[in-house]
Amino acid sequence: MTELRKSIIIAIDGFSSTGKSSFAKLIARDYGLLYLDSGALYRAVTLFAMENGFITDGKLDRNALLPFLSDLHLHFEYINGASVTFLGGRNVENDIRTLQVASNVSIVASDPQVRNFVDNILHSYRDKGGIIMDGRDIGTTVFPDADLKIFMTASTEVRARRRAAEMEQKGLKCSIEQVRQNLEERDWIDSHREVSPLSRAAEAIELDNTDKTLEEQMDWIRSLLKEKFGLSPIR
Ligand code: CDP
Repeated sequence: MTELRKSIIIAIDGFSSTGKSSFAKLIARDYGLLYLDSGALYRAVTLFAMENGFITDGKLDRNALLPFLSDLHLHFEYINGASVTFLGGRNVENDIRTLQVASNVSIVASDPQVRNFVDNILHSYRDKGGIIMDGRDIGTTVFPDADLKIFMTASTEVRARRRAAEMEQKGLKCSIEQVRQNLEERDWIDSHREVSPLSRAAEAIELDNTDKTLEEQMDWIRSLLKEKFGLSPIR
């Protein structure tokens, strides 16, 4: 069983702001797994593109961005148990969470070369132990051989309210309406792009958390991991 904890791969996919990362972070902590936030990598590439003037009026100048990709040095550091995104030596964890970045990220994430770049980073963590990742295409494209695939959903209203509250807590001002529009727009682009669109893997287990607290979701996953793999939390 210890061996499984060191090699298990859990993929959590789903629509924007369904609480994938909060859920995945808690599972990582309780089961001693490495948490990988794939969306953070797309957000960091987007931040880089925005800061260098490669995005104008929601359009990405991909010919300007692509030559820089291989030198981006994007990685995660784990500070006090929390995953922190670094772009070179710079901690960008807060800067990538703004509504401005959220408004451009799905366009950047539609680019096949950007996706390939991010996939390679994610794959490089494969041998580092048991991992849990959240995103849009983890169970379908990045790790199609994942041991467990979960697809999360929640009503748009609940998602918008949760994300607006989260942003307010971080001191980022925006209305529920602005957040709702952004979620719907990203869901549409993410589900309709040509490469690795957001879709539910056939074998994924669906979790609708519209009316579920995080604690209830943890109860659910604890039973599932016990039943399916005989795995218990380490804390
Ligand atoms: O936290 P939230 O659900 O709002 O989004 P995120 O996980 O931070 O992802 C931000 C954006 O990155 C998504 O809207 C997608 O456009 C893109 N993304 C993707 O295309 N594929 C992934 N595996 C993860 C994120």
